[in-house]
Amino acid sequence: MTERKVLLIAGGSGSIGSAIARGALAEGWTVALHGRDPDKLQRAVTDMADLGPVDGFVADLWEDDAAEVLVAEVAEQYGRIDAVVDCTATGPHGITGLLPDTSPEVFGDFLNVSVGWIERLAHAAYPFLSQHGGTLIAFVSDAGIYAAPRQTLIGAARAGTIGFIRNFAVEAARDGIRTHVISPSYVEGSDSAKRMGSERMAKAATRAGLGLPRAEDIAPLALFLCGEGARRITGQVISVNGGLNA
Ligand SMILES: NC(=O)c1ccc[n+]([C@@H]2O[C@H](COP(=O)([O-])OP(=O)(O)OC[C@H]3O[C@@H](n4cnc5c(N)ncnc54)[C@H](OP(=O)(O)O)[C@@H]3O)[C@@H](O)[C@H]2O)c1
Repeated sequence: MTERKVLLIAGGSGSIGSAIARGALAEGWTVALHGRDPDKLQRAVTDMADLGPVDGFVADLWEDDAAEVLVAEVAEQYGRIDAVVDCTATGPHGITGLLPDTSPEVFGDFLNVSVGWIERLAHAAYPFLSQHGGTLIAFVSDAGIYAAPRQTLIGAARAGTIGFIRNFAVEAARDGIRTHVISPSYVEGSDSAKRMGSERMAKAATRAGLGLPRAEDIAPLALFLCGEGARRITGQVISVNGGLNA
């Protein structure tokens, strides 16, 4: 078993996951970086390899048992898993908009992405997280916390994630596991920001008095919650939004 603590970042090849991975390596973690696209994942691993021990793990979480296989592979490689951060659940086209303009058929799938994937990861990682007082972190978006027009479907799915994590927190604490939700709103420089376009990002920026966060502004929170300083904290939902919502 490796001496260093092991952090599995699902969706670690993405914008926020990569920033968390860099911060974790700098803090002395071993990082198991997960992604779906093998080439993108390899680029991310190569980019951060000089910071510390990091390996890539490919899995498409739409495939049956993918979460279980992913966790088993990571556990097999390192002999331990101390924290799991899930950065995978990004909303598909048609999940936002005024209700009549959204696509009913995408909702079921996104509900599965939002609640089903973290639930599968939690199940698979439970035996490992309970060994050393581990942490599980889910990502949502502010739509799950703050009501707003055009967010009905995404907000409902994200609220599902929050419901799962908060209830799980109370029972998992008995086995020493802590679990939290981090909620970004708009994240400067992320792939999602590029998809939204500069006009929408600029409009959001005018409402965020502290300035919109970048992925590097979110990573320290995830690392704090996974660390010893947060050992008596669980079940929290924390938004990092630069003052856009409160
Ligand atoms: N960035 C923002 O502005 C923002 C705002 C609010 C909330 N959030 C939330 O914060 C979290 C992280 O966001 P992000 O901006 O870092 O996202 P991102 O850059 O789009 O990264 C998403 C990650 O999830 C992986 N992924 C997607 N579909 C997958 C699948 N079927 N199986 C396995 N992996 C899959 C991606 O891998 P591939 O690229 O290989 O597919 C990638 O590693 C997400 O839950 C997101 O919804 C982000």
